[in-house]
Amino acid sequence: SIPEPCIVVIFGASGDLTKRKLLPALYHLEQANLLPENFAVVGVARRDLSATFAPDMKDGILKGGGVDEKEEKLGKFIDRVKYFATEFDNDEGFEKLKAYLADLDKQFGTKGNRLFYLAVAPEFFADITHRLGNHGMTGEDGDHWVRVIIEKPFGTDLESAKKLNSEINQVLKEDQIFRIDHYLGKETVQNILVFRFGNGIFEPIWNRNYIDHIQITAAESIGIEGRGPFYEAAGALRDVLQNHVMEVLSFVAMEPPDVFESAPVRIEKLKVWKAISPIPVENTARGQYGPGNVDGEDVKGYRQEDRVSPESQTETFAAMKLEIDNWRWAGVPFYIRAGKRLKTRVTEVVITFKRPPLHIFQGSGAGAEQLEPNVLTLRIQPDDGIKLKFGAKIPGPTTNIAQVNMNFSYAEAFGKSSANGYERLLLDAMLGDGTLFAEREGVETTWALMTPILEAWKAQKKDFPNYDAGSWGPKEADELLERDGRAWQA
Ligand code: BG6
Repeated sequence: SIPEPCIVVIFGASGDLTKRKLLPALYHLEQANLLPENFAVVGVARRDLSATFAPDMKDGILKGGGVDEKEEKLGKFIDRVKYFATEFDNDEGFEKLKAYLADLDKQFGTKGNRLFYLAVAPEFFADITHRLGNHGMTGEDGDHWVRVIIEKPFGTDLESAKKLNSEINQVLKEDQIFRIDHYLGKETVQNILVFRFGNGIFEPIWNRNYIDHIQITAAESIGIEGRGPFYEAAGALRDVLQNHVMEVLSFVAMEPPDVFESAPVRIEKLKVWKAISPIPVENTARGQYGPGNVDGEDVKGYRQEDRVSPESQTETFAAMKLEIDNWRWAGVPFYIRAGKRLKTRVTEVVITFKRPPLHIFQGSGAGAEQLEPNVLTLRIQPDDGIKLKFGAKIPGPTTNIAQVNMNFSYAEAFGKSSANGYERLLLDAMLGDGTLFAEREGVETTWALMTPILEAWKAQKKDFPNYDAGSWGPKEADELLERDGRAWQA
């Protein structure tokens, strides 16, 4: 369906996200006829960019790909891109913004409906929300709605997450808040649920009776890309593991909801996170990259990056073993890892099945352990697709087995897409559908799991760096699996 008339108001619009992701995504919705006829976008930031904002956004849309400069829709869309300058702590500015939006309502017929997008540093989330509230911009009545999207991080540990949530909840009802985790916007992440629950043959074997263990990897070959101060305070656990990887894990592990709607999906995800037993620090591994070579290029170590302490204790790699204590998963370990400056960029879920009970194709004495297990790989990015590894008879007069793959590639099946993941999330927020957004209790539950690890790590200094840029991370991460007689698959 198509959203009701509305204005999308982006705070922090001078930042990279707006130009690179948000405006291209909104325009892709326009191309697909999914935006309401009565619509406008307003960028809000401190600097006065009124003369350059719209052309700059057009540039971003064109660079995003899949758009022809002469498209009729593009000109019409850009005419509805506006800009408003204010400091984020200036009450007069907010009062003027309110009047400005009311004027746009008259011009564009947007009926008072607002989607505020806080693309700002996290320290401004609560403050901006309160100021919007104080200036009468957050109240809903029967005639119009107001929703607020916030970007991660939603806190940096359990305590700060709770504080942020309660500050925001003073002004907004939970159903007005849309916490974005852009991994949930990825087609391939959404497809995990379609793969599991839209097919008849996978779900019966999706449990402890058939699955040996599951690995989730979110590996990046890039470093911290000039974000020194941000990353110093974050680290791999806070930046990727606590949110993106835990979201993916919940989709892999959850029970089927009765319907694909916000409340039932959120309940099932929450049940997974709540069933994870406390993680002993022995079941974790962390690392920091030293200098090395990535894709044939020499790169510096983390401690040599701009605005990073030469004695930094920040982890650029984190791994852990999780156990989900419920009927479906008891005894099936989930190994998860995320890191920067690893050998290659790959995000995937690897499901290793149990071996067949008996090896009937070899002479007596050959055990079933000599057979390779079936492995199902859900590749989230890049080269997204799904692969099933199985044994096949090598042609010839004797019976020998080789491992082969059944492959599904998104690009081959559906063609390349220029979508960036924000299309679906922005559309859903305009429609008021929170299914693919994080909610309060879920965020606090994953923080409750991770905070003790962060504290234990902080108390115990590490001899960093402990892996070379361009490798697969520290040897501790390998040992985490070797102890269980397993190895990372990549
Ligand atoms: C962000 C992190 O949330 O996700 C970045 O802050 C990381 O450090 C990025 O690079 C990864 O996203 P993607 O879509 O490139 O896998």
